[in-house]
Amino acid sequence: MTQLSRTGVSLEDDLLKEFDRLIAKRGYANRSEAFRDLIREALLSEIVESNKQVVGTLTLVYDHHVPNLAQKLTEVQHTAGAMILAATHVHLDHNYCLEVIIMKGRSKDLQAVADGMLALRGVELGKLVLTNSGASLKSAPHSHPH
Ligand code: NI
Repeated sequence: MTQLSRTGVSLEDDLLKEFDRLIAKRGYANRSEAFRDLIREALLSEIVESNKQVVGTLTLVYDHHVPNLAQKLTEVQHTAGAMILAATHVHLDHNYCLEVIIMKGRSKDLQAVADGMLALRGVELGKLVLTNSGASLKSAPHSHPH
C-alpha cells in the first residue's frame, strides 16, 4: 500500500462549484478520488506524448462486404507482430463486423498500426484508447511475485 500524503488546493468558488457538479454527475464519492483520477489522466497523457510503452484497445466497425477488407485488416495485424496481443471479432448484423484489438507497445507505434486499419475503405468507425497499468505513474518499482 502506497503512503498517502495530504495537500491543500486553493480554487475560485465558481470553479469549485463546477467541479463538484461534474464529479457528482460522474458519481464520485469525494473530491480526493476525482483529483487523483485527473492527475492520473494528465500523467498518462505525458506518457503517451513521450512515446513510452502503453497498452491500447482499437475498436473497429467495418462492412465485411467490402472486397479484401478482412484480409487487409488481418495483414496489418500480422505485420504488427508482437504488438498485437489479442483480437475479438463479433458479427454485428448482416453487414457489419465489430473488432476489438488489444495491443502493447510504444504509443506512436500503436497509433500507426491503428491508423493503418482506420484508413482502409470499409472501416466506418473506430477508436484507439491508450492506457497503462498505472505502474509507471508511481515512483517505487513494482515487482511481480511470479
Ligand atoms: Ni463478422
